[in-house]
Amino acid sequence: MVRRICISGGGTGIGRQVALDFAAEGNDITIIGRRSQPLSQVRAECLQAGAAGARAAIADLREPQSINELRDAAAEGPFDVVIAAAGGNSALSAGAPDLVGTDWASWHWTANFQTNVLTAVHLIEGLRELDAIAQGGSVILVSSIAAYRGSGSGSYAGTKAALHPYAFDLADALGTHGVTVNVVAPGYVAETEFFQGGMSPERHNTLIGQTLTGRAGLPSDVSATILWLCGESARHVTGQIIQVNGGANLGR
Ligand SMILES: NC(=O)c1ccc[n+]([C@@H]2O[C@H](COP(=O)([O-])OP(=O)(O)OC[C@H]3O[C@@H](n4cnc5c(N)ncnc54)[C@H](OP(=O)(O)O)[C@@H]3O)[C@@H](O)[C@H]2O)c1
Repeated sequence: MVRRICISGGGTGIGRQVALDFAAEGNDITIIGRRSQPLSQVRAECLQAGAAGARAAIADLREPQSINELRDAAAEGPFDVVIAAAGGNSALSAGAPDLVGTDWASWHWTANFQTNVLTAVHLIEGLRELDAIAQGGSVILVSSIAAYRGSGSGSYAGTKAALHPYAFDLADALGTHGVTVNVVAPGYVAETEFFQGGMSPERHNTLIGQTLTGRAGLPSDVSATILWLCGESARHVTGQIIQVNGGANLGR
């Protein structure tokens, strides 16, 4: 059966890998992001990988009206799988302003809330309003190990942690429709744009040293867990947070 898959943040990193893995199963893929170039490239890669169909929606999910960009796709039928992978640490972004003290704190708390919470909320509530999440479907929110141990400035970690109770409430609300809702919380994942080119070799080695597996996570590690959670063998798994971090949460 061809499933209809919707992935925010599908143009790069973890979201891209999820798109390609669902595409390789012959599913119909919709990816969302703000930049057209990576989305076009991944759309083409999905078709090459075997997708039944692939489309890209350019939308800034920090804005509630961004859901309008998904109306055409939703009109073709509800999504069987919705992955809210869009996110990142706004404090690391090139657009971060040169502020200090309370002004800086106010900016990065607001920006991280918009980037990590509202992008997921607008996607999922927008699709619910469009009646575009299929009965028996799966919803995944992407959190972070930071939600368990902080992120230096608090705001990225705090906004990822906010996704956890949102997922619990969604699992409750959608459970009677047979929809599972789970959170995947990765540790350090290399080969993504998350660090915006700011990952030093020393920090990379430190993060690997915190794992029990002795290696960095890869987008394929996270994607494999997401595909399992959205598959037949996980239909009784809902309202859970699955950490994918090589044991780094245990500390070393
Ligand atoms: N890499 C890690 O070590 C790590 C660890 C734990 C959790 N995570 C989480 O994993 C998820 C995927 O990140 P990644 O590591 O794959 O990094 P990434 O390559 O930077 O991917 C993030 C994606 O989100 C999209 N995005 C960001 N803001 C958006 C917005 N307002 N509207 C629509 N799309 C938006 C970006 O595309 P555009 O810029 O084109 O919009 C990008 O494709 C994120 O939620 C991140 O917080 C990552």
